[in-house]
Amino acid sequence: AAYDAGEHDSFMHKEMLEQPARAEAVLRGRLDERFGTGHLGGLNLDARELRAIRRVKILGCGSAYYVGEMGASLIEELARVPADAEPASEFRYRNPIIEPDTLYVAVSQSGETIDTLLAVQEVRRKGGRVIGLVNVVGSAIAREVDGGIYLHAGPEVAVASTKALTNMYLAFAMLAIQLGRVRDLSIADGRRLIAGLTALPGQIEQVLATEPQLALVAHRLAEAESLFFVGRVRGFPVAREGAQKFKEISYRHAEAYQTSELKHGPLALISPQVPTVAIVPDDELVERNVAALEQIAARGGPLVVVTHEGVDLGDAAAKADRIDVPRSERELDPILLTIPLQVLAYHAALSLGHDIDKPRNLAKSVTVE
Ligand code: AGP
Repeated sequence: AAYDAGEHDSFMHKEMLEQPARAEAVLRGRLDERFGTGHLGGLNLDARELRAIRRVKILGCGSAYYVGEMGASLIEELARVPADAEPASEFRYRNPIIEPDTLYVAVSQSGETIDTLLAVQEVRRKGGRVIGLVNVVGSAIAREVDGGIYLHAGPEVAVASTKALTNMYLAFAMLAIQLGRVRDLSIADGRRLIAGLTALPGQIEQVLATEPQLALVAHRLAEAESLFFVGRVRGFPVAREGAQKFKEISYRHAEAYQTSELKHGPLALISPQVPTVAIVPDDELVERNVAALEQIAARGGPLVVVTHEGVDLGDAAAKADRIDVPRSERELDPILLTIPLQVLAYHAALSLGHDIDKPRNLAKSVTVE
C-alpha cells in the first residue's frame, strides 16, 4: 500500500511516534523569534482585526473539543481574551448568539465532521467570522472557513487521534501568542513562549522514549473495569482527553473529573478496584493536587500520577506509579502531560487484544448527523 503502518503493529503506534516530526512541521515558518510572536498568514486577519476580537468561541467534536478547551485556556491566559470551547454537535441547536466581534474557531482533523461543518455554516449564515484548524487540505470545513491554520500532521488513519490533536494544540498556542502580542503580552513573554514551543518536539520525543515503562503501567490499568482521570484548570482538559482515548480503544469505563470536585461526590467510588490517573503539573495548584492524591490513597485507590520531576507526592508517593514529563513553560504544560496518556491507552488496548486502529462502534470521521 502507498501508506501503511510499516514496522508498527498499528497506525496508532506509527502516528504517535511521528509526533515529534509532525510537531516541527506545524511550527515551521510560523514562529517569529525576534518579536516573540506567531506568524500565521492563513488567518487573513491583520493586527487591527486581531485586536478588535473581543471573544473567541471554539467549536469541535470529541477530542477536537477537548483540545479546544486547552486552546481556550491558552487564549485566555496569554491574550486575556474571553474564550471557551463547546461541542460543535450542540451549538446550532441552542440558537447561539453570533457576535460580530467574536472569532469562531472550528477544529477538525478530517475537516469532514458533519456537526462541526454545520456549526461553521450556522455561524456564517448569521454573519460571523470563522477560522479553521484543520488537518485535511481542501476538506469541507477548510473550504467553508474565512481563513485558518493547516495542521500539517500528515494522513491520520487510526480512529484514536494522536498527532492531529498535538498539532491542534500547537496551532492554538501560536494563535494565542499572536492574539496576545497585539495586546498586553510582552515581547519577553512572547519570546519565552516561542522558545518553549521550539523545544516541544524534542521533549515529545523524550516522553515517547519512556514507552516501555508506560507499557507496564498500562498493563495494570487495563485490568480495572473502571477508572478516573483527574486534573485541574490546565490539567482538566488533559484528563478529559486521556479518559476519552482510554475508553475509545480499551472499552473500559474511564471518567474524567476535576480533582477539586472529587470530594463533592465521586470520592465515594474510590476503592482498590478503581484506579485514578492524576494530572499533577508543578504549577500553582500542585499542593492542592497532592492533598487530593492523599485522599485517594487513603481510600486504597491505586494511583498513576503524571507530573514533573521534583514534585513531592507526599504520603501518596508510596502507593503511586509516577510518570515524570519534561518541564515546559507553565502555560504550555498540557501537551507534554497528554502524550503519556496516549501511550497508556494504546498499551492497555494492546494487552486486551483489541483492534487498535478500528475500535468497535466508532468511525474515523462522523459525516452523518
Ligand atoms: C479522537 O480520538 C476521536 N476518535 C474523536 O473524538 C474525534 O476527535 C472527533 O470525532 C472529531 O473528529 P475530527 O477532528 O475529524 O473533526
